[in-house]
Amino acid sequence: MKLSAIESLKALTTQKKQDAQLVIVPVWEDKELAHFAGHFENQSENFHEALADFDPKPGAVQLIYGNHFRVLLIGLGKTSSAIFPVILKTFRQVAAQQKALLKPQAAIMLSHLTDKELHANAVVNGLVCGSYLIGTWKKDAEDNTHPLDQENSELLLITGESEEKSVQILETATRAYRIALAQKQAMHLVNAPSNIKTPPFLSETARSWGENYGQKVTILSGKEIEETGLHALAAVNRGSEYEAQFIVMEYEPESTTDATKTIGLVGKGITFDTGGLSIKTSAGMYFMKSDMGGAAAVFGLMEAAASLSLPHRLIAVIPVTDNLIDARSFKPSDIISSYSGKTIEIMDTDAEGRLILADGLSWITDHHKLDYLFDFATLTGATVRAIGYAAAGMFTNCDDTANLVYEAGLQTGEKVWRFPLWSDYDADLHSDVADLRNLSGKPIAGGISAAKFLEQFVREHPKWVHLDIAGVAFGDNELGKHKNGTGYGVRLMIEFLERLENLK
Ligand code: BES
Ligand code: MN
Ligand code: ZN
Repeated sequence: MKLSAIESLKALTTQKKQDAQLVIVPVWEDKELAHFAGHFENQSENFHEALADFDPKPGAVQLIYGNHFRVLLIGLGKTSSAIFPVILKTFRQVAAQQKALLKPQAAIMLSHLTDKELHANAVVNGLVCGSYLIGTWKKDAEDNTHPLDQENSELLLITGESEEKSVQILETATRAYRIALAQKQAMHLVNAPSNIKTPPFLSETARSWGENYGQKVTILSGKEIEETGLHALAAVNRGSEYEAQFIVMEYEPESTTDATKTIGLVGKGITFDTGGLSIKTSAGMYFMKSDMGGAAAVFGLMEAAASLSLPHRLIAVIPVTDNLIDARSFKPSDIISSYSGKTIEIMDTDAEGRLILADGLSWITDHHKLDYLFDFATLTGATVRAIGYAAAGMFTNCDDTANLVYEAGLQTGEKVWRFPLWSDYDADLHSDVADLRNLSGKPIAGGISAAKFLEQFVREHPKWVHLDIAGVAFGDNELGKHKNGTGYGVRLMIEFLERLENLK
């Protein structure tokens, strides 16, 4: 897609008709923002009457025919303190559900808006994410095209600003576009079924992304997993047809200063979770192709880091396997070892995510000096029962980082809500026969005890954040009639990293 900016609509009307088939206008209910009609000179009285008649309720859409172009009015409702997620969601909906009204050559009117950069950011990101095609495995090509996702697709920003300011707005929009591409990749990985995204497939994906983006990619698999001491990952992998993969990706910024931070990212990469011998019911199992949502977020973030040239160093670790059933499968009551050396009594093979993360977390803290350590995991149904689909569960030992991530969540709409890691819960993981067990066994505080388990493997890293994304990685949204990948985490983390910079 080509993105460009022009100062005024006038420049457009003097061009040939086909140069902008469509002008998209975001419209707020607030009076002072509703004065966009003045920007449409030389249009008929009927055209202006139609503009005036438009009631900009959230999600309202109206197509109007003018001279030289069509205008698509998009209602956004009343402004509030957090308008970014509102614009984002509305424009995702427009792209996903109003495909027939959109054109490959579209212009976005920003001239009438106060914060043009914010609007350019949200509108472009929303439109591009909303143009994600969920039906790529269908035979029928009809489902597989989108006007905003064609070779000649163009978005023209009408800024109403000087050339200098327009360049700045265009830059913000370009970043939003690149982030959207990374989000789409993350969404697509989650949507891919486990027979396609096998553990070796994810390794290949990492390798080719590494080549594309010049990132260092190191992969351990098969025998190397046990040889390296990743025993917990190996235990979960025992029931699998595929070799486990331990993917390490490194993003190095072009130039570093004293302010450059090193961020560790660990993503849960269970390509399918049957529960293992502690098998799930079939209703709960269907969604478990999304159990690598954490890995997908990390993949997306690594792509975004490269395409945005982020100024921080990122080290990503993705332990990958499926959790299946075989004569060799690990069993409840087994005592397994782990990279950290701690032994774990298996109470339930369905609590497998924390096992592979344990190895990822202790490996990364062993090999890298990290300023921050994040992990992303579709870890527990308990966290979903506690806060539903509105936010990820956040568990962290650092209050300052918690605040930054929380604020980044409100800004992007990828919200987090913090849970405690108090010592009150320490006893829950006591085992008589091993260093700890993988399940508390009590039907309460399941998200917290999972986080407490992970805490045992982060080697007291002072800035560790665990995000339980079980409720948000795969959800109901505008892209399909059923649950699908959301790309959760990519936008949140980019926002967090940007806030980190502004701290100084
Ligand atoms: N992958 C699941 C968690 C999950 C649940 C993700 C719902 C997405 C939606 C995880 O491996 C799991 O099975 N967790 C168990 C833990 C239990 C056995 C302690 C759960 O939450 O039921
Ligand atoms: Mn499980
Ligand atoms: Zn799982």
